[in-house]
Amino acid sequence: MYTIGIDLGTSATKFLLVSEDGSIASTVTKEYGLSFPHPGWSEQEPADWWKAVLEGIPELVKDVDKDQIAGIGLGGQMHGLVVLDENDEVIRPAILWNDGRTGKQVDYLNETIGRDFLSAHTGNIAFAGFTAPKILWMKEKEPEKFARIRKIMLPKDYVAYKLSGVFCTDYSDASGMLLLDVEHKCWSKEMLEICSVKEEQLASLHESWENVGTLLPEVARALGLPETVIVTPGAGDNAAGAVGTGTVGDGHCTISMGTSGTVFISSEKFGVDATNGLHAFAHADGAWHLMGCMLSAASCNMWWQDSILQNKDYAGEQAGITDDMLGRGHVYFLPYLMGERSPINDTDARGTFIGMTMDTTHTEMTQAMLEGVAFAFRDCLEVAKSIGVPIPRAMLCGGGSKSPLWRKIMTNVLNIPLDLPVSEQGPGYGGAILAMVGCGIYPSVQDACKKLVSVKETIYPDPAIAERYEERYRKFSRIYPACRELFKELA
Ligand code: XUL
Repeated sequence: MYTIGIDLGTSATKFLLVSEDGSIASTVTKEYGLSFPHPGWSEQEPADWWKAVLEGIPELVKDVDKDQIAGIGLGGQMHGLVVLDENDEVIRPAILWNDGRTGKQVDYLNETIGRDFLSAHTGNIAFAGFTAPKILWMKEKEPEKFARIRKIMLPKDYVAYKLSGVFCTDYSDASGMLLLDVEHKCWSKEMLEICSVKEEQLASLHESWENVGTLLPEVARALGLPETVIVTPGAGDNAAGAVGTGTVGDGHCTISMGTSGTVFISSEKFGVDATNGLHAFAHADGAWHLMGCMLSAASCNMWWQDSILQNKDYAGEQAGITDDMLGRGHVYFLPYLMGERSPINDTDARGTFIGMTMDTTHTEMTQAMLEGVAFAFRDCLEVAKSIGVPIPRAMLCGGGSKSPLWRKIMTNVLNIPLDLPVSEQGPGYGGAILAMVGCGIYPSVQDACKKLVSVKETIYPDPAIAERYEERYRKFSRIYPACRELFKELA
């Protein structure tokens, strides 16, 4: 049997056809645009996602026996606001996770409603990308459109709705709306009232692997699939990605060094840190997770190499950084090129080099940049440790982890072994695994992960280098607090 994993991303949707033994039978990617109608806004047409599905799935399955396809599971960009009217027509373009228009609404939620209230009712505080501030924005700025809203959904839930006709979401993705009582896994009546939302406007809540329905007959025909194909709601992209790397159960961690960075820690218990520095969300395995989301990770290296050094030879630039240099040096870098979400939640924070002298070389600055990103990852792990979540090792993935030097810096700065997965297929792979559970191929997400996910290689810290990094991390930790007020003034 096969299942289809759909990763509804921001620049493209990636489709995976996965066999029940975990091997990938085929992949297809369909790209689409992103529009920025005003500075700081970021929108997408849900119709483009659906077009990608209608084109992508027939191409994905063209060479296999369609009767062998059992289910579909989704992983999707989180937090986006999709609104439908009484005829199920999309009322306005989706407002995406990386949209920054809601500063005023975020301030209202965090300052007037109050962080403590939000944290008590949802497990989280407001961030510009989250869904609830966008609903408040629509209410204020587009009252006529707001009045027409009958359904409020997240991006991947729109696709599940088009596929199955079932208006559903899963707990992991719903966690990022700031409307869910994450600990008790139900919509928060208090938050619904604050946002003028009625419960019937929201989707039914499910575990990520639940069988919520099958393909609508006309959709099955359009995709060339049997009507018996099961649809499972899937998960937010980070939770789905974590399933794909086997980060399920208690105390497992995946660190993703993508354009942005994430630290994803699975946990059997619900927990919130004192500053809400990490998001406390439900996980796709039925439990919870903590997540740190850093806005610039591998993108710092791209910015440095492409825009500043104008040198496409990333490996060549890093070749000059020897083991002996690691953990030594007097240049430091704060990686906040787009402000920062976790753990400092400061949109005014900025990228900063500090400590250069007349003899500083570009190689030393490259090293400081790579280390600064690693230190920022460590900041997220320190928050988890502060609430008693030990992280003895982690899985490392994402584009940045392809650099052997950056991997070495990461293992020594974090001072834990880092596992590299055999295959890195992202959230779509998690979506396909969740669909396997929904179809009864595996009894639970944990079981499926045990069978399907394995480690290719583990890298270990070197005690001498790790000790040097302890000292350097302590110094790094003092730079942002010293600059915080200045960043506000400069903004
Ligand atoms: C998570 C987040 C991003 C989006 C992008 O909180 O904002 O990871 O899900 O895909």
